[in-house]
Amino acid sequence: MAGAGLIMHAIQYKRYGGGIASLQNVEIPIPQPKKDEVLVKVEASSINTADWKIQKGMLRPFMPFKFPFTPVTDISGEVVKIGSEVTAFKVGDNVVCKLHFGKGGGLAEYAVASERDTVVRPEEVSPVDAAGLPIAGLTALQSIQLIGTKFDGTGKGANVLVTAASGGVGTYAVQLAKLGGHHVTATCGTRNVDLVRSLGADEVLDYNTPEGQNLENSSGKKYDYIINCAPAISWKTLKSKLNDNGVVLGVAQPNFSIILAFICGMFNFSKKKIKIIGVSLGKDDLQFLVGLMKEGKLKTVIDSKYPFDRAQEAWTKSADGHATGKIIVEM
Ligand SMILES: NC(=O)c1ccc[n+]([C@@H]2O[C@H](COP(=O)([O-])OP(=O)(O)OC[C@H]3O[C@@H](n4cnc5c(N)ncnc54)[C@H](OP(=O)(O)O)[C@@H]3O)[C@@H](O)[C@H]2O)c1
Repeated sequence: MAGAGLIMHAIQYKRYGGGIASLQNVEIPIPQPKKDEVLVKVEASSINTADWKIQKGMLRPFMPFKFPFTPVTDISGEVVKIGSEVTAFKVGDNVVCKLHFGKGGGLAEYAVASERDTVVRPEEVSPVDAAGLPIAGLTALQSIQLIGTKFDGTGKGANVLVTAASGGVGTYAVQLAKLGGHHVTATCGTRNVDLVRSLGADEVLDYNTPEGQNLENSSGKKYDYIINCAPAISWKTLKSKLNDNGVVLGVAQPNFSIILAFICGMFNFSKKKIKIIGVSLGKDDLQFLVGLMKEGKLKTVIDSKYPFDRAQEAWTKSADGHATGKIIVEM
């Protein structure tokens, strides 16, 4: 079972660009775990915007590390083999893993994951829900941690706006911000207003309305923090709705005005700041998120599920930019 030299199905691309036409279904050897890695029989994986951005070449020359490349970083599955120095896992464990961006490997029947980026998936958390978590959940959590959020009920609570609250990151961010005791306003499109409210948002702004465009809540109160997951919103709009000491957590790929504001922020004395978020690996953070899920306090909103042989459709769905929650590929 899963021994060296055996063959598995995977999806790979050989060069930058080419969209889904370049995503080829291939048969390649099952990877073998190094001493600090586990081999996982993948049950589900989720697509992130970074996956197709890497394919487009937006992170060249840093990623991927080499071609042909098996994309996708977020997986859940069962450990079928362990490296010689692995102590935290055994064969048969159900796990969720965040693979390395540059190495990928998640769109395949088997993937190797570092022990330090892998956590046990409790049976209360489904493989599909777990697969949605790593990048989007960690990004949301790390943004919310940056604003000093406490999850033990001792925090003060702030006035927080989450933009693009219906997306992969936003759906987790709204839930986590509420768990952290914040007052949450959220923006999304008309079709997702009820969903985002059901995630706990205190007020939901439809971005098709003037209020939604202007990020204007009903009280007129300015925000202490804006977790900005919407790539198109300008710094001018964000800044106009910030408190004097307010901070934007720039999750979305920064547009020109955001980059400019970030650079200027390093040299001027405005108290309104922007911090650009870069998700980092974090076993403790992933463990924390899985724990919240186990307790029923956090859920993955599933946009859609695709069988492995239709993974290209999942890719297209993500690249369209209109997902409601996470896009899952099931093996
Ligand atoms: N910094 C990091 O480390 C990091 C990590 C992960 C993601 N990101 C970035 O963060 C952004 C969000 O990621 P994601 O995975 O959540 O993306 P996503 O799932 O593709 O987000 C899609 C959702 O965003 C909504 N949306 C788009 N523009 C909006 C706007 N102006 N106002 C309100 N809602 C809007 C869409 O609503 P409609 O369909 O109704 O238009 C859709 O529901 C992306 O730019 C991604 O690249 C950064």
